[in-house]
Formats: sequence, structure tokens, C-alpha cells
Amino acid sequence: MPTFTGDEAIHYDSRIQRLVPGYELLHQLTRAQCQVQLKADAKVLVVGAGTGKEVLELAKENPQMQFVAQDISRDMLDIAQQRFNEAGVHSRVKCHLGSLEGLEGAFDGAICLLVMHFIADDGGKAQLLKHIRAHLHNNAWLWIADLMKPETQFERDAQFVVCQQLGLTDIGVERTRQSFATSFFALDRMRFAQLLDDSGFSVAHCYFKALSFAGYAISCE
Ligand SMILES: C[S@@+](CC[C@H](N)C(=O)[O-])C[C@H]1O[C@@H](n2cnc3c(N)ncnc32)[C@H](O)[C@@H]1O
Repeated sequence: MPTFTGDEAIHYDSRIQRLVPGYELLHQLTRAQCQVQLKADAKVLVVGAGTGKEVLELAKENPQMQFVAQDISRDMLDIAQQRFNEAGVHSRVKCHLGSLEGLEGAFDGAICLLVMHFIADDGGKAQLLKHIRAHLHNNAWLWIADLMKPETQFERDAQFVVCQQLGLTDIGVERTRQSFATSFFALDRMRFAQLLDDSGFSVAHCYFKALSFAGYAISCE
């Protein structure tokens, strides 16, 4: 997995736009779903909040919403905290560094974008989903997006074509190709459905798909 520390954290926002086709759209659609499905003063858990994009944009549009921004990278969360301060939303956001285990509280919704694909399917993914579920009310929703297994043999290559169009260099493509093979643990839809079922979630509804990146809205059972 990338470290998400030091320069990786500093350059994250520009780099991610070249690595995830439709990154802005994914966030826009996630936000729209939260806006229509969550109540105005909802408490939202953002897992792997990174540099704070999900929280910042939702907080600006929804002045009564409250957030916990959780991440395991101090450097990413430090950038997020600075942005929350600058945007004047810091009083509604609590930053939580470390695993979800040490976190208290129950939430109306959770967002987990581009995080779970870094966690191996050796019990790690199941544990993450169960921890998220344990922090959600019974009628809550989860919005989750990840790199999935390719649906065709040429889907990954097409993805790299788009990444190059978005500004990724030849070396960047080669590094990403290696990283997909070693640092990403992509699921197919059957396995994803099984993990959700085992963790107390319902059926996944796809709301975003850009080549192998997919986003799903899922209610608690
Ligand atoms: C690709 S970034 C996504 C950040 C943000 N969600 C976004 O859409 O821009 C992945 C983030 O997940 C964090 N992360 C990785 N493993 C994690 C875990 N087990 N629990 C929480 N955060 C994790 C990383 O530190 C990083 O900030």
C-alpha cells in the first residue's frame, strides 16, 4: 500500500486525479446520495478520510451535519484538519487517528472511498466492514468505492489509457501497474456481496462505475 505520508500526502490531491478516472464525479455522486438519504443534522463517519475531501464538501453544503474523519495516516489527517480549520467547519468535525476499534459513537451514515482495496481479503476486509457496521444505526447507509476485479481482459489497459490522458506519465503507469498487482486486493462482485452479508449489510447498489472503480450504496440489515 502507498504510505500516504510525507510527499505522498502533500501531493495526494493532484496525484489521485490522474490515478482514478472519474474521481471528482465519484465524490459528487456520493455527496448527492448522502444529501438525499441522510437527515439534515446526520452524524457521518468518514473512514479513510485522507485529506478531507468528503467531509469538506458535505460540510459546506450541509451546515448541520457532524462528522468523524478517521484515517490511519497522521500526515493525511493533518492536512485534512488544516483544511477544516480554513473552511470554518472544524467545530463539526472530529479527527480520529487510528483504527475504528478505539472510536465511540453511532452514526447515521458512513463513507469509505478508495480505502478497502488496500486491505487484504484475509479477514482484514471483513474486520473493516464489521467495524463500520458496529458504528452504524440499524437504518443507516454505507457508501463505499473501490478498485474491483476487471470485468474484461482489456479493462485495466483501458484504465491506463485514461490515466495517461489525465496526465499520468509512462513511469507512473508502470508503477501503478505494479502497485495494482502487489498493493491492491480487488474483489469481484460475488465475494464483495458475501463479505457484506457476513458483516450485517444488505445488497449493494452500484451508483458509480468508471472502468474498474465502482461505488456502492448499501443499507444495514
Ligand atoms: C486513496 S486514499 C482515499 C482518501 C479519500 N477517501 C479520498 O477519496 O480521496 C486512501 C486513504 O485510506 C487510508 N487508509 C488505508 N488503510 C486504512 C485503514 N485500514 N483504515 C482507515 N484508513 C485507511 C490511507 O491512509 C489514505 O488516507
